[in-house]
Amino acid sequence: MDGNGRWAQLRGQPRAEGHRAGSQSVRRVVRACRRLGVRALTVYAFSEQNWERPEDEVSALMDLLKEFLIAERGEILGNGIRLQAVGNLGRLPGFVRAVLDPLRNESADNHEMTLTLALSYGGREEIAMAARELAADVKAGRIGEADITADALRLRMPSLAVGDPDLVIRTGGEQRISNFMLYGLAYAELVFSDKLWPDFTYEDLYSAIASYQSRERRFGRVGKPAVNVTSTVRA
Ligand code: IPE
Ligand code: MG
Repeated sequence: MDGNGRWAQLRGQPRAEGHRAGSQSVRRVVRACRRLGVRALTVYAFSEQNWERPEDEVSALMDLLKEFLIAERGEILGNGIRLQAVGNLGRLPGFVRAVLDPLRNESADNHEMTLTLALSYGGREEIAMAARELAADVKAGRIGEADITADALRLRMPSLAVGDPDLVIRTGGEQRISNFMLYGLAYAELVFSDKLWPDFTYEDLYSAIASYQSRERRFGRVGKPAVNVTSTVRA
């Protein structure tokens, strides 16, 4: 969800106003995805690296996060949405945890859609954490070295508990991954939108999904032939 700062700057407003507009965009996209029957939506709300931003911006983002969780509680619970969070959650301020944790618990049995907030999240950090856990298992004799497989690593990554991402959308015009779900991205389809996140509309979401639907996913295998010559001849 990139481009909040530039959105504000273009209007001569403080960056925090861009984040506020961005949170409305999150609300919009969550609603649209729930309606479309998307099973899992993960939003990269705050990266582990975002802590390096100026203190007032970090605190504005944390305030907004708290406000978002309070405002969306009814909608989340009322629509069968399970709210999860992934990342280094221990770094979040207590006032955020105080609204985040109860909502995670209250929504734990919902199963219409899983909404995951990536908070203080980093893809490299997540891989390192999974590796540490497996190392501890080897050291304790619970598993052997040979058990450290690609799947074993995957199973230790909270961001992939909902499955590997099928489609990743990055707004704001940059064409990079910026430490998002690195391990799970192996075969994800990527859509880069020039829209700034606060300007990202239903139509932009639909067009990203339509682009996804038009692609042939091969996962390293060979694809279907463009025209099925054999059956054409037989017919
Ligand atoms: C949102 O956009 C990213 C968040 C941390 C929520 P930015 O704040 O990175 O916006 P730009 O890139 O400065 O426009
Ligand atoms: Mg940015």
